[in-house]
Formats: sequence, C-alpha cells, structure tokens
Amino acid sequence: MAEIIHGRFKLLRKCGSGGSGAVYQARDLRLKRLVAIKRVTVDSRSRRYLLDRLLKEAENLARVEHPNVVEVHDILDSDTSVSIIMELVRGARFLKLFQKRALPESELLGYFWQLVAALDAVHDVGLIHRDVNPRNVMVSREGVIKLTDFGLSAEVDEDEPRAGGTLGYMAPETLRRGARISYGVDIYSLGFMAYQALLGITQFKRLYASRKPRDWMRWVLSREPFKTLEELNVPVSQELSRLIAGMLEKNPDARYKKISEVRAELEALLRTLPRFGTPASDEAVSPDSLELGAQLGS
Ligand SMILES: Nc1ncnc2c1ncn2[C@@H]1O[C@H](COP(=O)(O)OP(=O)(O)OP(=O)(O)O)[C@@H](O)[C@H]1O
Ligand SMILES: [Mg+2]
Repeated sequence: MAEIIHGRFKLLRKCGSGGSGAVYQARDLRLKRLVAIKRVTVDSRSRRYLLDRLLKEAENLARVEHPNVVEVHDILDSDTSVSIIMELVRGARFLKLFQKRALPESELLGYFWQLVAALDAVHDVGLIHRDVNPRNVMVSREGVIKLTDFGLSAEVDEDEPRAGGTLGYMAPETLRRGARISYGVDIYSLGFMAYQALLGITQFKRLYASRKPRDWMRWVLSREPFKTLEELNVPVSQELSRLIAGMLEKNPDARYKKISEVRAELEALLRTLPRFGTPASDEAVSPDSLELGAQLGS
C-alpha cells in the first residue's frame, strides 16, 4: 500500500533521486491535489544537520518568486524524515530535449530566455544557485521552464558555502580550492547547458566527453577556450554564438558578471526575430512569453 507521510501526503511514485534523498509525486489528501515532495529520511544523529540543510534549501527557494522557478509550499519534519513540499512539474527534465538530437536555435531560444529570467530572479535576491544543470531544470508539458533543486544555493557573499556542484557544469573557479565565487558561476553553467543543447549530447560527447573526470577538470582549468558554436559549424546566429562564448569564458573577469547583461543582449537578439516580437524588458516574464516554449517546441 502507498505510504502516507506527515499524516497527509500519499507517496505515489519516485520522480528522481539524488545525493540527498528522493523526489516523489504525491497526493495531498487534504487539499486533494498532486504535489512534488523532496524527502530525506533521517535518524536521531543526522536529523539536526539534515533539517538545517533542507530548511535552508526551502527558505532560499521561497525567497525567489518567479514563474520559471519551482514554487515551494511547505517544509515538514518528523522523527524519521524531512520533506519539502513543492509544486509538481508535469513534464520532463530539460536534458531529455537534447539527449537524442541537437536543439535548433529557434527552439532553444524559447527555453533559454525563460532560464535567463529565472536566474535573474535568483540573483536578484542575492542568491547563487550553484547547481544549474539540465537535470535540475524541468520543462512542463506547456513548455514552461522551472528551475529546481536549491540544495546548493548560497548567499553571494557566504564565506564557505557547502562544496559541490555537478562536475561537467562547474565553472573553473569553483574547481579551485578557496577561490571566491560569484554570480558568474551560474552564468557559466547556463551558458554551458545552452552550448550542450545546441550541439546535442551525442555530438557534445564526440567532441569533449571522452575525457575522464580528472581530464575534464584539467581541461576546464586550462586557458584553452571552448570552440565556439560558429567554429563547430552549428547552425546558430553569430549573436547567439557570441553570447554563449561570453558566458563560457573560463576567466571569470572576462565573463559576463551579471545575468542582467546577458538578458539585455538576449533581448536585443530576440527583437530581431519577427516571431518573438518585443519582449517586456522590466516585467520578469510576460504572460505571452510563457507560451514561447510551447510554440517553439512544436
Ligand atoms: N517539483 C518537481 N516536480 C517534478 N519533478 C521534480 C521536481 N523537483 C525535482 N524533480 C525531479 O526529481 C529529480 C531530483 O530532484 P532534485 O534535483 O531536487 O534532487 P537531488 O536529491 O538534489 O538530486 P541530484 O543530486 O540528482 O541533484 C530532478 O532531476 C527532477 O527530475
Ligand atoms: Mg538535482
């Protein structure tokens, strides 16, 4: 029989599991709706530490109110588990969209714009996400992007945030012990994700990923720049290729330092495309923009 936790949530199926616990699709028996629950089982020794950690994750998530960031409803704890109750995203991981093929520019832009808006909202409250990767980004069936997993998020000026990240997506400075990190680490990860999406995982692997983790780290830490999408003959506009190359600068001083700069350039690029029209510049995401992914995904 399905397990009921915190006297109210019936666990239906596992959506994924990771370092810290598992995420379930669950039914809220009181409000009679589906939710997502990130649940970590605890014992008397680990309880305090894990409760603090998940509390931080839920608090940080709650600080960011944005349609492209998953919404947190609550955090609940018992003697045996701690659970973050969230909005359930019905859709797929962003990764799925470019695992078997390269995402064409027109399609990528619809998602990329939402991702940039999501990151802008995160940075705007003084947080760095620190684990931007295509497993932590969901795309709803309607094509709406939802950034998830604030498990590693930290204040921008936090002295010693918990170490970690997802190796392939980590900016060079995060791989250096003791180096100061800033918003640029998320900009790099987002740029890297877009780069991978436009190449497609298969081609990306052919080009780079025969490298073992240690070799990858060494290469990321080297001065050698990523080959631009233009150089690789990927069919993308010069503007997008340059924007992504700027996000992928290995030296954080040469990279975009603010996501608002990326956003401004992206909006200039989008304005040149007739089907996007003029995106609202000061509104976080206009209702029209929420349709973009769906339109472009067709
Ligand atoms: N709100 C949600 N709605 C639907 N699915 C979700 C939601 N949040 C997370 N997931 C799914 O569960 C997976 C794991 O979630 P999350 O990344 O938050 O957990 P994690 O334990 O930190 O995992 P990892 O260590 O792999 O990053 C995600 O990759 C995603 O597929
Ligand atoms: Mg995750």
